[in-house]
Amino acid sequence: MDTATKLEFIQALPKVELHMHLEGSLEPELLFEIAGRNGLKVPFASPEEIREKCNFTSLQSFLDLYYEGHKVLCTHADFKDLAYAYFKRVSVTNLRHAELFFEPQEHTVRGVKMEDIVMGLTEGCELGLKEFGITSELILCLLRHYDVANMMDTLKAALPFKQYIKGVGMCSTEIGYPPTLYTEVFQFAKDNGFRITSHAGEEGPPDFVRQSVEILGIERCDHGIGMRSDPAVVKLLADKKIGVTMCPISNVLLKVTKSIPYSPIRQYLDAGVMICFNSDDPSYFGSTYIDENYEAVEKEMGLCVAEWVKIARDAITMSWVDDAERASLLAEVDAVCAKYGVAV
Ligand code: HPA
Ligand code: ZN
Repeated sequence: MDTATKLEFIQALPKVELHMHLEGSLEPELLFEIAGRNGLKVPFASPEEIREKCNFTSLQSFLDLYYEGHKVLCTHADFKDLAYAYFKRVSVTNLRHAELFFEPQEHTVRGVKMEDIVMGLTEGCELGLKEFGITSELILCLLRHYDVANMMDTLKAALPFKQYIKGVGMCSTEIGYPPTLYTEVFQFAKDNGFRITSHAGEEGPPDFVRQSVEILGIERCDHGIGMRSDPAVVKLLADKKIGVTMCPISNVLLKVTKSIPYSPIRQYLDAGVMICFNSDDPSYFGSTYIDENYEAVEKEMGLCVAEWVKIARDAITMSWVDDAERASLLAEVDAVCAKYGVAV
């Protein structure tokens, strides 16, 4: 297959996104619009100034700017518009299904009601299905810079909206916050029927990934690139079929890897770990959504067609869709392969 056809094939594959923070898809123009209607002053002169500040040296340097952006989101309409804008942007990418993080603690701490967050986002997700045919689920993402008591209170406050929230995840600063601190929090989430994932091994060591698997019981690992130096941990994830939601552009821009080819994509494929590619916080990374992440990996690494088919299938396998939707998405991969003459 020539290069142009291969890029077209990759674009045509049905996509599933499993690692995307809704607050990280707040484009600077929408941030200003929402701040304006809420009568809030923001510490930036213009959308361009926000874009200029997106020049990060580490995860923490990103988080400091990112949580400033959270502060404009206040009402049901704000959360609805945020989710809707994401679906509108990705409607051109063959995205079929998304499992989307949201971070209530940075909102409830300002007095925003859990109901407005969850029901606003849910309305945006319903519009995403109705207008663009994209199915989705919400994942409540706990923030490690809040204490365990606050995490427990947050989960309890979310229980009345359980039917709208598929899973619980965890993110924010990693160094200094070992997974062992969160046993009780994740046990509570599991006992209440939530699916479980966590950011681990973004800047943290292999042991944080191991602990997330063995102690927290994660079903997926978000980022996971930090386990690259310990083949035993890589093998643990391959053996347990715990997939890794990789974010190639994010990892380069937050300086957790030197370049996309230098990231452990090749290593994980060869070790039989399930992986998929995701946008993480697209609006803070130069408006790079899932399509740009797939394309960047191909342009910089040139994976083979069979590997792209496997990655498209892994994303579907790792997702939390029901059996019927999973079968239908896998059949769509087969149909695209047939169209391009790719043997399956
Ligand atoms: N890592 C940690 N915290 C985050 C991330 C991430 O990738 N995105 C948004 N908050
Ligand atoms: Zn993330």
